[in-house]
Amino acid sequence: MVTEGMAAIRIPAGVFYNPEMKFCRDVSVALIRAARAGAHARTVDATAGSGIRAIRYARECGGAVGDLWLVDISPSSARAAKANAARNGVRAFAAPTSFARFANSVRAKGGFQLIELDPFGTPVPFLHDALRLARDGTLLSVTATDTAVLCGAHPKACLKNYQAKPLNPFCCHEVGARILLGKIARAAAEFDLAALPLMALSHRHYFKVFVSLKKGAGAAAETLRKIGFISHCGTCLHRETSFGVACTTPARCTACGGTLEHAGPLWLGKLHDGGLLARMIAETGSSAPKLAALFTVMRAEDGLPPLYFELPRVTERLRAGALGRETIASALETAGFEASRTHFHPNALKTTAPAKDFFAIVRQAKAL
Ligand SMILES: C[S@@+](CC[C@H](N)C(=O)[O-])C[C@H]1O[C@@H](n2cnc3c(N)ncnc32)[C@H](O)[C@@H]1O
Ligand SMILES: [Zn+2]
Repeated sequence: MVTEGMAAIRIPAGVFYNPEMKFCRDVSVALIRAARAGAHARTVDATAGSGIRAIRYARECGGAVGDLWLVDISPSSARAAKANAARNGVRAFAAPTSFARFANSVRAKGGFQLIELDPFGTPVPFLHDALRLARDGTLLSVTATDTAVLCGAHPKACLKNYQAKPLNPFCCHEVGARILLGKIARAAAEFDLAALPLMALSHRHYFKVFVSLKKGAGAAAETLRKIGFISHCGTCLHRETSFGVACTTPARCTACGGTLEHAGPLWLGKLHDGGLLARMIAETGSSAPKLAALFTVMRAEDGLPPLYFELPRVTERLRAGALGRETIASALETAGFEASRTHFHPNALKTTAPAKDFFAIVRQAKAL
């Protein structure tokens, strides 16, 4: 027996349960509660495992979950998920089958307003079935544990799965999250759905992203305008963006003439919904300080341009001693730029300052 949040579940041998993903489930609970409390949404957990996620959503998200389907290709997992739901007083239907088969069956007719995709590795093979079941306003919650692929350790796999080029080693976690969101937005557009990010989390070995899906060919086409490329100069850390799925990218760094590395196509729009984060912070409060701290950093980084300056790399270039993040942030603000920590890196700053100004301000702050 395992107790997590408001759920007490039994994990028979062979059924997947990873206690390390509790934090990810805590984040999901906070987001779904803030976004969908009282919605009684028809819900499907496409890869339910023990059922822990959907059971927690049903118990902890203030009536967000209505009719609930627990799907798992492993019959013993589907059985365990249903038994666990009953154990926790949650009414649920179990489907011991692949999500693809389920999505094509009469049980999925009518679609779902809350769809959970939490597979092993990449979620890409599940995306089209999930999007086919989405309706106007559906909340799609997606986990990706193929972090090494999205972060550029295996560029060929990234090209194959996401049709995108990653960036490595610079800012690889944010670029990975943007590649995942870009893939979801491009796939959603095929179904006349606009995928609007509610939150993009990078934590340990996984990404977790939440998108709200809006029906409409126009809205879907509009989201594609936010797809593009990031060009990054490894010499001077200059970065720039080019919008469009099939756009041109600059050949050389416009700041130093160096070689640029291009990443994309990826999502260049906002990563989080600031209003939703504010509600999540208010609802979480002091009861879960780690969650509240994460949401607060996300709210601060929300709306700042893509990428960040990793301070150890800056130190390396300037041959300077350790740089105080807060000192540099206030120097940037004094110079009229916005600056914030980022949840994508423990020691980095996101800022509106271009690389050239950023370095000038750091030099000045350190009297170099
Ligand atoms: C990472 S686990 C799910 C973990 C669970 N959501 C949790 O929070 O503990 C992935 C699950 O997907 C199931 N699975 C794998 N391929 C599947 C498919 N094609 N359709 C449905 N379930 C599948 C596996 O049996 C496994 O239980
Ligand atoms: Zn350059």
